[in-house]
Amino acid sequence: MSEALISLRNIGFAYLGRTATLQALDLDLFPGERLCVSGPNGAGKSTLLHIMVGLLKPTTGTVEAFGQKRLGEKNFHDVRRRAGLVFQDPDDQLFCPTVQEDIAFGPLNIGKSKSETAAIVEQVLEHFGLMHLKERITHKLSGGEKRLVTLAAVMAMEPEVLLLDEPSNGLDEETTDRLVEILVSLPQSMILISHDAHFRAKIATRSLSLVDGHLEDFDPKCRHAKP
Ligand SMILES: Nc1ncnc2c1ncn2[C@@H]1O[C@H](COP(=O)(O)OP(=O)(O)OP(=O)(O)O)[C@@H](O)[C@H]1O
Ligand SMILES: [Mg+2]
Repeated sequence: MSEALISLRNIGFAYLGRTATLQALDLDLFPGERLCVSGPNGAGKSTLLHIMVGLLKPTTGTVEAFGQKRLGEKNFHDVRRRAGLVFQDPDDQLFCPTVQEDIAFGPLNIGKSKSETAAIVEQVLEHFGLMHLKERITHKLSGGEKRLVTLAAVMAMEPEVLLLDEPSNGLDEETTDRLVEILVSLPQSMILISHDAHFRAKIATRSLSLVDGHLEDFDPKCRHAKP
């Protein structure tokens, strides 16, 4: 099998003063995969994505990304640039006054010129069918509109891997179908966390479930994982 883009080994994690959320968790994301992860509320799915990009530090285990072991905060800057995380709550992600500024923030931050950035903003807005939101005040968007803008902002960074935390949450049926079309057409490997079985079925090349702190093969006959 080809080399994994992201590998987690023996990951353990506990929030301060709480019992372990993740225990002895292993995960490999391979090129070309669209890996769906489900699991009960509070199982630790969002925590897992945050560990992958170094926003949380595991208590045990190792994170390897793009061929390198990632230890300190400095090591993770490159991971966050190459693996685009779409947060579960869009309000954790959007912080600029307008939609176009939010999408432009990432490209400008990595040194793209103003004109290059303007072209990228146009391109992603067009791709996501969001041109009509370009000048809007971000915090006055609807929940679904905000979610699409967070996706567009992450895509503007041209990440090699996408980490999507409940990307279809709050989207209407037509927009969900459009999102499925877009995601399936992308060349990037991705991890998608989703509670929506239909959404997962349309997208996943592999499905796992997070139960009791670790990942197991998803079994559609059970609610979550294989016994
Ligand atoms: N900052 C925090 N401090 C303490 N406990 C936390 C913190 N953030 C999350 N938790 C707890 O850790 C557990 C895992 O949270 P996490 O958000 O990763 O779950 P999840 O699987 O993403 O759930 P959901 O499906 O509801 O999004 C939950 O019990 C949650 O209450
Ligand atoms: Mg979550």
